[in-house]
Amino acid sequence: MPSETENPVKAAQERTSGGDLRLPPGPGVNLLMSVLRQKKWVDPIAHFANLAANFGDIAHYKLGSRHIVFLNHPKYLREVFIVQHANFVKERTQQRAKLLLGKGMITSDGIVHRQQRQVSAPAFHRQTIAAHADEIVRRAAALREQWNDGEKHDVHLEMMTLGLGIIGATVFSTDLGEEVDTLNRAMADIMDVYNAVVLLPGIRLLLQIPFTPLRKFVHARKKLHDAVGRFIAEHRRANATGTDLLTMLLEAQKTQGWSDEHVRDQVVTVILAGYETTAIALTWTWYLLSQNAGAEAAMHEEIDRVLGGRLPSYDDLPQLRYTEMVMAEALRLYPPAWAMGRLALNEFQLGEYRLPAGTTVLASQYILHRDARFFPDPLRFDPERHTPEAKAARTKGAYCPFGMGPRQCIGEAFAWMECVLVLATLAQRWRLRHDERHAVVAEPLFTLRPKDGMPMMVVAR
Ligand code: HEM
Repeated sequence: MPSETENPVKAAQERTSGGDLRLPPGPGVNLLMSVLRQKKWVDPIAHFANLAANFGDIAHYKLGSRHIVFLNHPKYLREVFIVQHANFVKERTQQRAKLLLGKGMITSDGIVHRQQRQVSAPAFHRQTIAAHADEIVRRAAALREQWNDGEKHDVHLEMMTLGLGIIGATVFSTDLGEEVDTLNRAMADIMDVYNAVVLLPGIRLLLQIPFTPLRKFVHARKKLHDAVGRFIAEHRRANATGTDLLTMLLEAQKTQGWSDEHVRDQVVTVILAGYETTAIALTWTWYLLSQNAGAEAAMHEEIDRVLGGRLPSYDDLPQLRYTEMVMAEALRLYPPAWAMGRLALNEFQLGEYRLPAGTTVLASQYILHRDARFFPDPLRFDPERHTPEAKAARTKGAYCPFGMGPRQCIGEAFAWMECVLVLATLAQRWRLRHDERHAVVAEPLFTLRPKDGMPMMVVAR
């Protein structure tokens, strides 16, 4: 594994044998040249869809001097993310995410990552998260009391605010109170310029220039860091004990000698990974339900039958199977984490192909989940694709909204619990109707956000 200071791309390229490489087929153009010639940035999802349509299971191209492969078959994803995972790091592919997340669990590698994951794991154990169910339901129930029949809301904003409050209160045992608005606004500002931050070359230098729109990113990131710094300081002052993640991180800081910045990066990472993704998943679910009356009615029938009008609890989850299948189907069509990337440390074999060290490997859940080979009639919203029988018959690895292998989402069980409880609590009282004048566009930023939010009308059931 490279050290934190080593340049992994350069180091990996130096390890390339130059021997018998066998590159997969591909467009044969240098993407960077083509982008510069056309003077427009590539829409990443259209780009991946294009590669999948033209080259099938695997495609190769170059970006400048860098080799890139795009994987479009579960057998290749399983090879990279599970079987050969030790040969792949997130460094470099996550360089831009680092500007936002620092050196948290999502962007780190090797021993640093293992340590972070070990320290955080107890906070995500099933027993620990079960204790958070009532708080999640309490917050969702408070939101449903605020809505009135016929009102219009940006459901994306509502889900973000709810999700942020939930993460603060549960994973970090902190009532974020008014910080929720500060954090939400900071995130919106960051996302406004995130595409530019991800795509522009030399971004670290550009961010230093005053009075450009990119400074918005720097200001928003500072607001985010300040707010997180405040609630860490408060937690420390309260000398809290317990099983929440922040207590564990602060304990680890003492034994591992972590800096305050390191702790802050862990917290920012889990907040963003934990609320942005679930809020988006719920937003897409409300939208899809509004377009699929049959599934909506079946979900309502289940919720009414299982709960009989009372609020849901952790123990109801095994009975809320259809509600969970609705969630699973929304995660298939609109996976909040829409792509994953890795960098190969050493030359490697994928099926009949041999690729050099330093290759960037990309895969997209969005493309894979809409592949008719694995999900017939892929654009149809059909929760029945997620019955236990259908799951057992499915090609292994074709459905991967939470990734796969040792870097699979640590918060997956929490996310299922939160989403099903929130859906059940809100759908007991309300159905949401999409404002058809609003064009629905999925924007592949840090997550797959609905462009311009999701305006919907609240209608009493
Ligand atoms: C619907 C909700 C969610 C989705 C779709 C999602 C998706 C993902 C995916 C795909 C990865 C792996 C990325 C990769 O391998 O490159 C990941 C990692 C991660 N997720 Fe989630 N996630 C969700 C919710 C959560 C929640 C609720 C938390 C925490 C409270 C969380 C925390 C994390 C962390 C810390 C990692 C990094 C794990 C590691 O690298 O070891 N996520 N997530």
